[in-house]
Amino acid sequence: MQSMLRPDALKGKNVVVTGGGTGLGRSMTEMLLGLGANVCITSRKLDVLQKTAEELEKTTGGKVLAVACDVRKYGEVEHLAAAARDRFGSVDGLINNAAGNFISPTERLSSKAFQTIIDIVLMGTINCTLVFGKEWIAKGEKDKAILNIVTTYAWTGSGYVVPSACAKAGVLALTRSLAAEWGRHGIRSNAVAPGPFPTKGAWSRLLPGEMIEQFDMAKRVPLGRVGEHQELADLVAYLISPFSGFVNGEVVTIDGGEWLKGAGQFNMLDTVEPGMWDTIEQMVRGAKGS
Ligand code: HXC
Ligand code: NAP
Repeated sequence: MQSMLRPDALKGKNVVVTGGGTGLGRSMTEMLLGLGANVCITSRKLDVLQKTAEELEKTTGGKVLAVACDVRKYGEVEHLAAAARDRFGSVDGLINNAAGNFISPTERLSSKAFQTIIDIVLMGTINCTLVFGKEWIAKGEKDKAILNIVTTYAWTGSGYVVPSACAKAGVLALTRSLAAEWGRHGIRSNAVAPGPFPTKGAWSRLLPGEMIEQFDMAKRVPLGRVGEHQELADLVAYLISPFSGFVNGEVVTIDGGEWLKGAGQFNMLDTVEPGMWDTIEQMVRGAKGS
C-alpha cells in the first residue's frame, strides 16, 4: 500500500489498533507498518489476528503483535497494554477502531442488543482510552495520539442503526472532551468519520444479501463511488503521526460528500433533467411579481 507520507514517517512509533485483524483496521495496520511503525492488533479472535499478523509481516517487513482482547472487558485491555509495552517498550498511538453494528428497526431491539453495541463501541473505546491514557499520564510520557473511528451519523443520527449512532455520538463527545482535558499532558485526541468503505464486517451486517444491489451506497455519494481503503489509511496515518501534532479535537470526514448531500434541502434537484432547467427558470422568473 503506497502512502502519501515518506516511507520512514512512523519509524520507531508503536501503535495499537483495535479491530486490527479485519476490514479497515487491517488496512490501517498495513499502512502503518509500511511507514515503519510497529503495530499491536487486537480483537476477540486470536486466529484471525495471527493470520493477519503473519500476512502483513510478510508483505511489509514490519513487526506485528497479535493480542486477543475483548475491549468490553477492562482487565483484558490492561493485559493488552502490558503485552504491547513488553514487546515494544512503549505505545505512542491508540486507534479505537473496533466496533459492533447491525441494522434493525429500533422497536425490534432488546435492551441487551443496545447494551451489546454500546459496550463494544462506546465502553470499548472508553476502556482503551482509560488504560492507555492513565499510563501515559502516570509515567509523564508525552507526544501521544488517540484516534477514534466514528461515522458521520455520530452527529446526524440515523434510523435503523440507533445503538451504533448513540455509541458513536458518545465517542465523538469523548474525543472532543479529552482533546481539551488531556492536551496539557501531551495527548492529542482526534476522530475520523468514514463514509461507505466496503468491508465484509460492515457490508454483511448493514447490507445483507440482495440489499447490497437494492441500496447502492455509491449512489449516495456526490463523487459517485465508495471509498478506497488506501484513502482512509493515509488519513489515519497522518492523524496518528507527529506531522499532525497541532491537530487536536478534530473529526475529519472522509465520505466523498455523502452526509452533506443527504442534509442539503435542495440536493434532490440532482434528479431534474438538464433540459428542464430552461422551463424551470422561466417559471421562477415569472413568479417575480407575485
Ligand atoms: C436484532 C440482534 C441482532 C439483529 C444481535 N442481536 N443481532 N437483535 N437484530 N440482527 C441481539 C441479540 O439477540 C442479543 O440480544 C444481543 O443483540 C447480543 O447479541 P450476541 O450475538 O450475543 O452478541 P455478540 O456475540 O457479542 O456479537 C456482537 C454483534 C456481532 C455486534 C451482534 O455482529 C459482532 O460480533 N460484530 C462485530 C463486527 C461488526 O459488527 N462489524 C461491523 C462494524 S460496521 P438478546 O436480548 O436476544 O440476548 C460499522 C459501520 C458504521 O460500525 C457506519 C457505516 C456507514
Ligand atoms: P469490521 O471488519 O467488522 O471491524 C470491526 C472489528 O472490531 C473486527 O475486527 C472485530 O473483530 C472487532 N471487534 C468487535 N467487537 C470487539 C470486541 N468486543 N473487542 C475487540 N474487538 C472487537 O468492520 P469495518 O468496516 O472494518 O469497521 C471498522 C471501523 O470503521 C468501525 O469502527 C466502524 O464503525 C467504522 N466505520 C466503517 C465504515 C464502513 O463503511 N466500513 C463506515 C463508517 C465507520 P472480532 O469480531 O474478531 O472481535
